[in-house]
Amino acid sequence: MYNKIVSENKEWIDGVWEKIDKKMKTVSELSKDKIPYTTVNGVHNNMAKDDVSWWTNGFWSGFMWLLYVGTGDERYRAVAETAENLLDAALEDYDGLHHDVGFMWHISAGVNYRLFGGKKSRLRATYAANILASRYNPDGRFIRSWNGDNRGWVIIDSMMNIPLLYWASEEYDDNRFKAVALSHAETVMKNHVRADATVHHIVKLDEETGEFVEAFGGQGCGLGSAWTRGQAWAVYGFILSYIHTGRQEFLDTAKRVANMFIANASANDWVIPIDFRQPEEPRLIDTTAAAIAACGMIEIAKSVGENEKKLYLKSAIRLLKTLDERFCDYGLEEQSILQMGSEAYRLEQPEKIHIPIIYGDYFFTEAIYKLKGFDMLFW
Ligand code: GLY
Repeated sequence: MYNKIVSENKEWIDGVWEKIDKKMKTVSELSKDKIPYTTVNGVHNNMAKDDVSWWTNGFWSGFMWLLYVGTGDERYRAVAETAENLLDAALEDYDGLHHDVGFMWHISAGVNYRLFGGKKSRLRATYAANILASRYNPDGRFIRSWNGDNRGWVIIDSMMNIPLLYWASEEYDDNRFKAVALSHAETVMKNHVRADATVHHIVKLDEETGEFVEAFGGQGCGLGSAWTRGQAWAVYGFILSYIHTGRQEFLDTAKRVANMFIANASANDWVIPIDFRQPEEPRLIDTTAAAIAACGMIEIAKSVGENEKKLYLKSAIRLLKTLDERFCDYGLEEQSILQMGSEAYRLEQPEKIHIPIIYGDYFFTEAIYKLKGFDMLFW
């Protein structure tokens, strides 16, 4: 069933991949000394200068690695490695780092190491894994998310960072990393996923007992709402924990949160709002949530039985076709591809809404890369 659906869509998949590659051959050369986050007047900004510790700074390198693996073009490898080197300033600074080190190093240095086995890349991924593992609170059974006053806070996004720990366990043949990741994933499954399969963005846990203290609306539109990127992090994050551990409850959870995403996507004509429970007006959109969820759904489709694959794969393709047709810019006047990403439901910060964001380009490309049949799993 999986192969049948992919082959029915082959022409479209190949066409999108070619458009991405064609554009990025030029753009990667123009931005080869940068770590982009967004664009300003169509031109990539540079986080290596603006904020090298920013949590999204691994995505540009990861994006280049997707294109390298998919095309074999050495120019992409060179740009990925330049960005990986630039990111060393964040490791050296250390203070700006927190649980997002998986986003930063697993798909940059980590992919480089898995492809080429370089010692420096291995060390970078190892330092990141150790930083992440060191944030584990054994009393509360969770990895602390951010720094500062936010003690006991755990955010759903963390599910995308723990694959770095599954990698470290394998790489060092040391079960401690996996034990931390598993324990954290169980805590998130228990506390963040609600009975109706929506998820909390932020939960505060008691640092000594791990008991639920309170939840916060976070980047969604309010307490009890359903922030779509958080839902997407859950879809992809839980299926990744299933892939790395084989634990059935992670697959079941991934399916539950994906089913909720699909039901709401369908009710919104497959154009994903910032929050599934936001007011009808203004009609705010977050394309990045669709791209991330599509990646997760493709992996779910690969993991479930024959008679279940259609729902997840067709839903992923529906999301991606909507992005391709309505929200992608393949021209060279604009250096980003996926438009209309949104950081959060913040009406008072319109500059953070409906903008290109680097992880939109990354996950849109990763989803197409998966559909093309490239099977190296970056996470
Ligand atoms: N990890 C933060 C976000 O998704 O915006």
